[in-house]
Amino acid sequence: MSEEIPSTDLITLTRIVAHVLHDQLRLGAAATGDLTLLLTAIQVTSKFIATNVRKARLINLVGLAGETNVQGEEQKKLDVLSNDIMVNALRASGKTAVLVSEELEEAIVIEDKYKGTYCVVFDPLDGSSNIDAGVNIGTIFGIYKVRPGSKGTVEDVLRPGSEMVAAGYTMYGSSANLVLSTGSGVNGYTLDAALGEFILTHPNIKIPPRGKIYSFNEGNSMYFNPPVHAYLKSIKYPASGKSPYSARYIGSMVADVHRTLLYGGIFGYPDDKKSKSGKLRLLYEAFPMAFLTEQAGGIATTGTKRILDIMPQSIHERCPVFLGSKEDVQDLMRFYSEAS
Ligand code: AHG
Ligand code: MN
Ligand code: MN
Ligand code: MN
Repeated sequence: MSEEIPSTDLITLTRIVAHVLHDQLRLGAAATGDLTLLLTAIQVTSKFIATNVRKARLINLVGLAGETNVQGEEQKKLDVLSNDIMVNALRASGKTAVLVSEELEEAIVIEDKYKGTYCVVFDPLDGSSNIDAGVNIGTIFGIYKVRPGSKGTVEDVLRPGSEMVAAGYTMYGSSANLVLSTGSGVNGYTLDAALGEFILTHPNIKIPPRGKIYSFNEGNSMYFNPPVHAYLKSIKYPASGKSPYSARYIGSMVADVHRTLLYGGIFGYPDDKKSKSGKLRLLYEAFPMAFLTEQAGGIATTGTKRILDIMPQSIHERCPVFLGSKEDVQDLMRFYSEAS
């Protein structure tokens, strides 16, 4: 049997974003190319963070930075480094007006010299607790266009996630995987480190309508509310003849969501008796992941309402998250509606 020769026609992220712009211009849309350039800046930050993640143990980048962020979490060195990489690159791109980061208490309003028309909300390094063990971590981002007439204020990001123009994440694992949606489906790319390019490896990701995996931190069970208990019981002790679901929980949202997009099933971080709004942050964790989930044909809910419809009141607010395969999330939602 002859071996297949390597492709000489690589579809890179750079090529796809350029094509999107080309198509917009061909169709007569008032496209400026700014989003293309912004996405190019973001992919460079992912490569830069990825290379630091790889070397972290060797160049003393593991461990604590010594400061606490606005959420009361101790910042790891990689949290701070990734934040600085993103802020510097996004400002210098000249395409942004407002930046919101998990690691910065206030939104950054970009000075006139560098000001553009997009707002980026981001979790520079997701899964901090996994850094020192070398377990998968990531970066999450969502992009809004400033409102017409606005010069860029925090109000431009206090908007429902459904108004985002793009969202994505990069997972730093055995390879770096960038998953992106600009509102017409979801594509996944894998970094070819030798080429320095993200190559399209997962075109048009669709979540299977039903999965076999659930992903919750069940260590919090004693705080969970009745609908969550009842739902988890239903998948662990199914009607006779059916197999129970498998548990998979990494503790990095990026990695747990990535697996859910590819394999299906349900990921959940509920509100509970201790954390009344859950743990995950609405703007830069829940919204981007909800955007990707819906674009891949899945559902993202708080249990009772669509995440993308939430109107944020403040930049670091939290919200309960359940997302994944359509049928699995619908099952969960039934337990909520029966409880009300
Ligand atoms: P971050 O590292 O950006 O602060 O996010 C941590 C989040 C998220 O990645 C993950 O899903 C969740 O925290 C895990 O929380 P538990 O350790 O409570 O399970
Ligand atoms: Mn954190
Ligand atoms: Mn996070
Ligand atoms: Mn983080």
